[in-house]
Amino acid sequence: MSDGNPYEIIDDTPETPRLPGQVVLSEDADQALDAIGMDIVHHAKACVRAFGDFHLALSGGSTPMPLYERMMIDPAYREMPWRRTHLWIVDERCVPFDHEKSNFGQISELICDHSDIPRSQVHPIHAYEPDADVRYEKELREVLGWREKGHDRLDFVLLGMGDDGHTASLFPHSPALDVRDRLACFNRGPAVTPPDRVTMTYGLINSARFVGALVVGKKKAPMVHRIANGMETPREIPIKGIAPVGGEFRWYLDPESARWPV
Ligand code: 6PG
Repeated sequence: MSDGNPYEIIDDTPETPRLPGQVVLSEDADQALDAIGMDIVHHAKACVRAFGDFHLALSGGSTPMPLYERMMIDPAYREMPWRRTHLWIVDERCVPFDHEKSNFGQISELICDHSDIPRSQVHPIHAYEPDADVRYEKELREVLGWREKGHDRLDFVLLGMGDDGHTASLFPHSPALDVRDRLACFNRGPAVTPPDRVTMTYGLINSARFVGALVVGKKKAPMVHRIANGMETPREIPIKGIAPVGGEFRWYLDPESARWPV
C-alpha cells in the first residue's frame, strides 16, 4: 500500500504467465528480440560444433522482421555462422516471392542478400506451385538425411503467434491441424486467413531440437492469458499443439504480451 511517498518505486512488471514450456519475460520488446536472437546464435554455434551445420526455420509476420534486420547489422550477432546455416521457411503464402505477402521474399531481402549464407543452403517454399508441399517435404528429407539418424531434425524453429492463437500457418479449426503423416502441407479453406498457405506440420515442428515462440505486444496478451489459464484444445488454439518431443520449447514475451488484464 502506498504511504504517499512521491519517490516510491512502483514495480509494474507483470507476473510471468504459466505457459507450456519455459518462459523468458524480457524488459521490453526489443530485449525479447535479442533474447531469442542470442539463443539462435548460441544454438547455431553448438550445432556447427556438433554436426558441422545448423538447420534454422524462420517464420514470417511482422514481429520477427526487426530481429532479422538486426542480425545483419548489430555486431553482437557477428558470430552467427551463416556459412554453415541451412535456412528453412516455417510457412509460406501461395504467392510469388516478389509479392509483398511472401515470407521468403521478405526474409530473403533481409537475410540472404546481406549474409554469406550459400544460396544452396537457402530453402524457400515454392508455394505458388501445385506440388509445393511434396517438393518441400522431399527437400527436407533429403537435406536433413545427410545427418546421422536421430540428428536428422530441425535445430531451431522460430514461431510467431497470431491473436487467434495460430502459429506457422496452423489456423484454428483448419485442415492442416489433422495432418499427421507429412512434414509440410497446404492449408486452405474458410478457416485459413487468405491467401492459401503451405505450412510445416505439427510433426515436423515438434521433432525440432528447439522451438522458440516470439510473442510481443499488447494485442497478444488476451491469447497469452487464455493459453496460460484456459482449457481450450489445439484445435481451438493451435499453438497449444506445440510440444517438442525430444526438444525444448521456450516463449519470449515482453511485459505487454504478458500483462493481464491489459
Ligand atoms: C506468417 C506467420 C504467422 C505469424 C503470426 C504472427 O507467415 O504470418 O508465420 O504464423 O507468425 O501470424 O504474426 P505477427 O508477427 O505479424 O503478429
